[in-house]
Amino acid sequence: TTAELEAGFLHTVESDQRIEPRDWMPEGYRRSLIRQIAQHAHSEIIGMQPEGNWLTRAPSLRRKAILMAKVQDEAGHGLYLYSAAETLGADRADLTDALIAGQQKYSSIFNYPALTFADVGVIGWLVDGAAICNQVPLCRSSFGPYGRAMIRVCKEESFHQRQGYELLLTMMKGTEEQRAMVQESVNRWWWPALMMFGPPDDRSPNSAQSMKWKIKRHSNDELRQRFVDMSVPQAQVLGVTFPDPDLAWNAERGSYDFGEPDWQEFTEVVTGRGATSIERIANRRAAHENGGWVREAAIAFAARSDEGAHH
Ligand code: ACO
Repeated sequence: TTAELEAGFLHTVESDQRIEPRDWMPEGYRRSLIRQIAQHAHSEIIGMQPEGNWLTRAPSLRRKAILMAKVQDEAGHGLYLYSAAETLGADRADLTDALIAGQQKYSSIFNYPALTFADVGVIGWLVDGAAICNQVPLCRSSFGPYGRAMIRVCKEESFHQRQGYELLLTMMKGTEEQRAMVQESVNRWWWPALMMFGPPDDRSPNSAQSMKWKIKRHSNDELRQRFVDMSVPQAQVLGVTFPDPDLAWNAERGSYDFGEPDWQEFTEVVTGRGATSIERIANRRAAHENGGWVREAAIAFAARSDEGAHH
């Protein structure tokens, strides 16, 4: 009966074992995972754009090679994640259609422009740093294919984080102008990076159920706090400050207190009114349409190879 199946499912989740694609699962679990994994995949693919913008203007061959490898890694992450969504019965083509029709979300962070080369460093340090903080616990997500995809994603993200930090350390050892460029970039990215963790817990409609199902292991606010605590000492080593007058060590809590992100801005950005929202989707749509002939050729080739196999 459904009740027995449900009990079996909950037992698997509660004993920290994995749910695999062929196992029975409640429809809500399947839907929520497709939602989260699709948004995550879209974020990786859309996330290629802000930095991709700097590939032709990297200041040296070394920086260009590193950046190219990084942007290609993001494409790979998108592909593992679309594959994980397909194990739940979703179709990658439908997910892409929903993205370019503006019907599915992707991370708020990719609606901000990368204006200077320092942004490449700050995106690596803070944006990929926030991504790691959020995704390391997802390696233990209850759904097997999602958790396993996260292991490789996190290893590659930590390379991205370090390349960003190393780039910034180099700039901070440079001229006064370069140091100012880093600080200006940090000022623009700090608050958007904090928003990546999602709305505050009391305004996060999916959190309670996702934590019960162990899709998520920590709440949005817990991870945001962890990220602040880990970033402050890194900023001190680098020699930059964060644009938050309320940021202060709280000895009682053993954590940093910090100010409230602008949740109005977050809502605007998530509902498609960010500085670059229209451009990001237009670029994705153009890339998809321009790739149409490749998909047609692949389908025609597969059909012909199938015929060949029958003769
Ligand atoms: N950007 C865009 N949308 C967001 C963001 C964000 N930073 N944070 C939350 N939202 C959306 C949620 O998707 C949800 O929308 P929906 O119900 O229409 O799907 C809504 O805001 C309410 O948020 P929550 O109830 O808190 O949603 P959820 O429990 O899914 O938590 C979170 C959001 C933390 C982003 C979670 O989905 C998650 O951990 N996802 C995997 C990580 C990820 O997607 N990272 C992508 C960026 S990192 C990178 O690619 C470099």
